[in-house]
Amino acid sequence: MPSEQVWSKLQELLDDGLKSIGSAADENALVALQKRFFGKKGEVQAYMQHMKELTPDERPKLGALVNQVRDKLEARFVEAQKHLEEAKMLADLKHRRVDLSLPGRLPMRGAEHPLQKTQREIEDIFLSMGFEIARGPQSEWDYFNFEALNFPEDHPARDMQDTLMLENGSLLRTHTSPVQVRTMLCYEPPIRIIAPGTVYRRDDDVTHSPVFHQIEGLHIEKGLNLTHLRGILQLFAQSLFGKNTKIRLRPSFFPFTEPSVEVDIACIFCGQKGCRLCKQTGWIEILGAGMVDPNVLREGHIDPEVWSGWAFGVGIERVAMLLHGISDIRLFFESDLRFLGQFRR
Ligand code: PHE
Repeated sequence: MPSEQVWSKLQELLDDGLKSIGSAADENALVALQKRFFGKKGEVQAYMQHMKELTPDERPKLGALVNQVRDKLEARFVEAQKHLEEAKMLADLKHRRVDLSLPGRLPMRGAEHPLQKTQREIEDIFLSMGFEIARGPQSEWDYFNFEALNFPEDHPARDMQDTLMLENGSLLRTHTSPVQVRTMLCYEPPIRIIAPGTVYRRDDDVTHSPVFHQIEGLHIEKGLNLTHLRGILQLFAQSLFGKNTKIRLRPSFFPFTEPSVEVDIACIFCGQKGCRLCKQTGWIEILGAGMVDPNVLREGHIDPEVWSGWAFGVGIERVAMLLHGISDIRLFFESDLRFLGQFRR
């Protein structure tokens, strides 16, 4: 082939290459073109065969020209690749619009469970008065749950608490009062403790759950009487429900206290005018209490001639329901974030 022809063919190859690479429709087309032009048997390399047809001084010129053509085609190739990528990204963005004006999404924040919060608030009140926290097991012996608390076996007083028995002869404690005797057996008086914990009864409706929580209080010292009980429980009610909260003691019965009382607070909803929540009486019951029965002190190896004590038991669910105006106890156990989220501070 005469050299002019080689030059013009090479020019044609360049023109053709620039055009077809520039108009490649997609990635696959580009890959095919890459093979066609730059492969080992590609069209650019093929020009090297014409070397032998040229005079010795024309040969280096051809080499340089072929290199130039390859460089230009390669530059166009990189350009085309970039172009295709951009077009793809734009098409993607059209599909999945990003709205930069939207507010950011905050990570979910946890919150204390309302029962936990109420328990902590009650604990704080008694801790500030010098009480300490004590605990006992949830699966309890009949002895501590009933017998030592002056509920004799087969005594009708046991009907007050619908019990869940376990197969090993123990039971799920029906109240936190067993911690009273356990504490007396472990520590010398004077004793000032509160015992928070889970308790169980065979009971289930909108205000009763088979699993619920109580805080027991026990105070043993020389010379205690009902006025001490009244004074501390009054302070407790005022710290929890507001400093003008009035309380009253009503005679009641528990086997392990004598005398026993039920403590009411003046209705916080109607200011004692009478409403559905206080059943038109102006008073709402919040806890049971009383002077520790001498029989119970004796079970705890404490001499009732020397020491006296008073005790109370308060339901945490009940207090939380009153504090927050909750009418269905099951809300505490359903883990519904719409409910639980309202107690975030
Ligand atoms: N244990 C009683 C109950 O669960 C409450 C109580 C505790 C009463 C301490 C008097 C003294 O009903």
